[in-house]
Amino acid sequence: MEEGPAVSLQAVGKVYPGVEMSLRGTKLETLGPVLWARNAIRAARLTIEHAPPVTALVDVNLSVARGEVLGVLGPNGSGKTTLIKIVAGLLRPSTGDGMVAGYPLTASDAIRRRVSYVSTTGWMGLEWALSARDNLRFFAELSGMSPALARRRTDEVLRALDLEEDAFKLTSELSNGMRQRLIMARALLWRTPLVLLDEPFVGLDPGHRQALSDYIRRELPALGQTVVISDHQAEVVESVADRVLILEGGHVRALGTVADIMRSLAGLIVLEVVTELSDTPTLLPPPLVHRVERRLRPGPLGLVHWRLTVEQGPSTFSAVLAWLSSAGGRIVEVEERRPGLQDVMADSTVLAAEGA
Ligand SMILES: Nc1ncnc2c1ncn2[C@@H]1O[C@H](COP(=O)(O)OP(=O)(O)OP(=O)(O)O)[C@@H](O)[C@H]1O
Ligand SMILES: [Mg+2]
Repeated sequence: MEEGPAVSLQAVGKVYPGVEMSLRGTKLETLGPVLWARNAIRAARLTIEHAPPVTALVDVNLSVARGEVLGVLGPNGSGKTTLIKIVAGLLRPSTGDGMVAGYPLTASDAIRRRVSYVSTTGWMGLEWALSARDNLRFFAELSGMSPALARRRTDEVLRALDLEEDAFKLTSELSNGMRQRLIMARALLWRTPLVLLDEPFVGLDPGHRQALSDYIRRELPALGQTVVISDHQAEVVESVADRVLILEGGHVRALGTVADIMRSLAGLIVLEVVTELSDTPTLLPPPLVHRVERRLRPGPLGLVHWRLTVEQGPSTFSAVLAWLSSAGGRIVEVEERRPGLQDVMADSTVLAAEGA
């Protein structure tokens, strides 16, 4: 195999061009005349306007060693799929360059032959009319494996993904989790240098999640395969990855081992505060506040859930609570805890994001 890291990216960015939307393609809400009229106006406007371009990735620098399992963590829309598709040679970056499995990103055909890519949303081209087992053998032989090897690998991956009992069910008769494991199994038929798994754990029950995670950790690096695996849940990624890349709004928020990232959180605490509905304080948060997330809590009471990452200290509590009450909302609940990986990525509006 080639020398050098399995993946190296330099200043990779991706901007999706704006799409023109038509009235016919726009979903109109029908909840009430006012909403409807507002949407109709918006929809009509969209017929003559271009939607603005979307910046999905900004200045991503990354090197993944051979045999490493890299976890990509980030909330919805943070750029995980975009990053994985660029590495898979399925999408051209708008800026930057890099090498994957020894080939420059521009050599996408060569890259695609060296990569197994799994996205577990959708059917990923499974044949409905074939059994799980025949699907695997069909794809194995289609890609040029000898019938004997195809049979052997099929049995191996069926066992690895706990599909032996369901191997003779038609694809259309599989449950979601089974179908997802079948898609995974198919990707593992080939021993490609790189295995890219986009949210493979979503929809799996805890037992199968654990089994898949163990399998990836134990077997794939031992076969010399490099794995990039995404999810939006920290504990899932933590359990499988050697290093974690945390994306937020297309930016790299953190990159390192879980221990590295946790070290960067030393001296910080997270305050989960619930207040009555109020305006956002007009004053800036006190300087010991590194990050503020604000989310409206659904329900008739009108509550706001704040998550604040703050420096630990004698005046922390009083300063933060004074700041929160400055906009007039009564504080209903306060909880303090140590920060985890999940706190590095925001899943709601971030008002301040320096430090940490
Ligand atoms: N084909 C596309 N055209 C335009 N914008 C896109 C396209 N694909 C993704 N985007 C936008 O790029 C951003 C990043 O999307 P991406 O799918 O990479 O996020 P993600 O982290 O995989 O999210 P999720 O957890 O929901 O899968 C989002 O703002 C998304 O709306
Ligand atoms: Mg995605």
